[in-house]
Amino acid sequence: MNAKYSKRIILVCLLALILSPLASAQAQSSKKGLLVYSSIYGSTVETAYWVKALIGIENQLDVKSLSQVITIEPYDYIIIGSVTRNEGPVEPVYQFMDLYKDKLVNKQVCYYLNCGDTDETMVLKVPGREAHLIAGRNYLIDLLNKYPEIKPVAIGGFGGRQVFITMNKKDSFMTWLVGMLAKEGKPWEGLDIWESLVPERVEAFANEVRVNILGLKPREDVKQFRGYWESLQPASLTDPAKQKFHPKPYTEKVNTDRIYYSRSRIKGDLELTVSLLQQWAKENGIELKEQVKTFYNVYYHAVKNYGEGDIITHIVPATLPEDPGNVHISFRCYDKPDKRSGVEKDIELAEKLVWADGRKIDN
Ligand SMILES: Cc1cc2nc3c(=O)[nH]c(=O)nc-3n(C[C@H](O)[C@H](O)[C@H](O)COP(=O)(O)O)c2cc1C
Repeated sequence: MNAKYSKRIILVCLLALILSPLASAQAQSSKKGLLVYSSIYGSTVETAYWVKALIGIENQLDVKSLSQVITIEPYDYIIIGSVTRNEGPVEPVYQFMDLYKDKLVNKQVCYYLNCGDTDETMVLKVPGREAHLIAGRNYLIDLLNKYPEIKPVAIGGFGGRQVFITMNKKDSFMTWLVGMLAKEGKPWEGLDIWESLVPERVEAFANEVRVNILGLKPREDVKQFRGYWESLQPASLTDPAKQKFHPKPYTEKVNTDRIYYSRSRIKGDLELTVSLLQQWAKENGIELKEQVKTFYNVYYHAVKNYGEGDIITHIVPATLPEDPGNVHISFRCYDKPDKRSGVEKDIELAEKLVWADGRKIDN
């Protein structure tokens, strides 16, 4: 082997030695992040550290409670996480927004909530209030409307955890009361736990931050970070056989004195579902009035006079992060059974149309 050739080999080996640690390390972003949270029973904090783990320890993301924040100056992006109370983020989150809104406009911002119910096709009607859209990301709509100049890069409605036995008396009472008043009972209640966290939502949210803010690849090995989700939960202590809350069935029909409710899911996208609903409305003399529109759902009042004045059917098609490629759709009518037989027939026609051509998923 001549000297020139062996020198080259040594050079290549040296280069490989120098570069190998870089190659095995996770890709890193120079952006600095701050995750601020407001939590009462701790689940919003646990998801904060879960998001941090998914984003990667090699990327700076400081995690602080709202009261620890003294400045947001050094950060390129801010993630704001809140517990849900009374159908939205808690007051300290609004105070934080008011205090920093002028600075937040020039940063990349994300919002997430831990909440009791994540089904974004959900409409709630309780006495004294109009029926309205609730659950998951829907709880962020008020915040989004209040600060329209801040356009979040990602939003998340993760679900959460509430253990009835550890709640203070006032919270137990409030939760019980809403359940009693809700037209369709307590859709959030598990066994003795209220646990609705959807791990795929946390993972999808963190990956949006990685891709759209940090310019990194989405993580595929996400399941190794489910420590919080897998960990022993308080209900397991009272009965080890108890499992975490099982998601509500995707397909459901409830026909009681208080409500006619039907929910299903189809293959397709929101655009297709909306056009099918418009076709159904046109063919059946129904006026489809849009109430709320987001990038993941639409809330309609379908209005028709069946002989004794207008009756409203509440319709919500929605796409959910944990079920990509499918659309979930709910129909609700709160009129009494003797008044709503026409509505029930029209809902059946709507479902026949959206389910056609093999779109319906049977579970
Ligand atoms: C008094 C009370 C009111 C609540 N209101 C709502 C609500 O309006 N909508 C909802 O989805 N979850 C609601 N929740 C559920 C909590 O948002 C959920 O359990 C969350 O995981 C708690 O977060 P934390 O552990 O960080 O405090 C409520 C819980 C309590 C105790």
